[in-house]
Amino acid sequence: MSITIKTAEEIEKMRTAGRLAADVLMMVEPYVVAGVTTEELNRICHDYIVETQEAIPAPLDYHGFPKSICTSINNVICHGIPSQKRLKKGDIINIDITVIKDGYHGDTSKMFAIGKPSIRAQRLLQISRECLLKGIELVRPGTHLGDIGYAIQKHAERYHFSVVHEYCGHGIGRDFHEEPQVLHYGDKGTGPVLQSGMTFTIEPMINAGKRHSKLNPKDGWTVTTKDRSLSSQWEHTLLVTDDGVEVLTRREEEDDL
Ligand code: MF3
Ligand code: CO
Ligand code: CO
Repeated sequence: MSITIKTAEEIEKMRTAGRLAADVLMMVEPYVVAGVTTEELNRICHDYIVETQEAIPAPLDYHGFPKSICTSINNVICHGIPSQKRLKKGDIINIDITVIKDGYHGDTSKMFAIGKPSIRAQRLLQISRECLLKGIELVRPGTHLGDIGYAIQKHAERYHFSVVHEYCGHGIGRDFHEEPQVLHYGDKGTGPVLQSGMTFTIEPMINAGKRHSKLNPKDGWTVTTKDRSLSSQWEHTLLVTDDGVEVLTRREEEDDL
């Protein structure tokens, strides 16, 4: 399947799915505190998605993923599995939410800090969010995807952070992961050219140390930094419009978007 251009009807459904995914992140925020287990956060999000939103949590059973959300703490890059592990002061955690509503996906994640994390962790959270914003700023018809990867990599490396290569953003719609792959590194003027009606995610994973990752062979999902350094990720689902971008998963707190 090549890159799909969404129709007006599909775009309306993508808007709804995107808004619901963003709503889950806003809803769960008060529960993301020291002492809570990631399984409790999974249950809170699952029940809200299924009962209140009457939507489907896309990760559950996706290629065998066992839970409804991803929770990635500290040196976990992505695809952390909710468990009995309790959050503690100083942790950083990414919560990644994907919902399916009326056949279409909305995919978004953000970082939460538990209490006050180290200065270095705070810096990592801030710069990695800026990386996402630098990418979003470039979204309009005519932009090469490589321009976006280049801008993200340049911003991360300017602060001596690194960009994970093994996982990337993706087209999204009826399928969770569609073409194209959206790399968070690369060269200007390379890759597919954006067109109005495309929907895709940007979701840079930025490490405080080296870029290399390691997949947990026991659970087949949890991805950590090879050097055990901290990692941070932010994700939005985007629509390319005639004159720029619409952030389908924007939250109320994001007055800079
Ligand atoms: N939400 C992730 C993404 O941004 C994918 C999670 S796949 C899962 O693409 F199976 F781990 F849920
Ligand atoms: Co995604
Ligand atoms: Co996601």
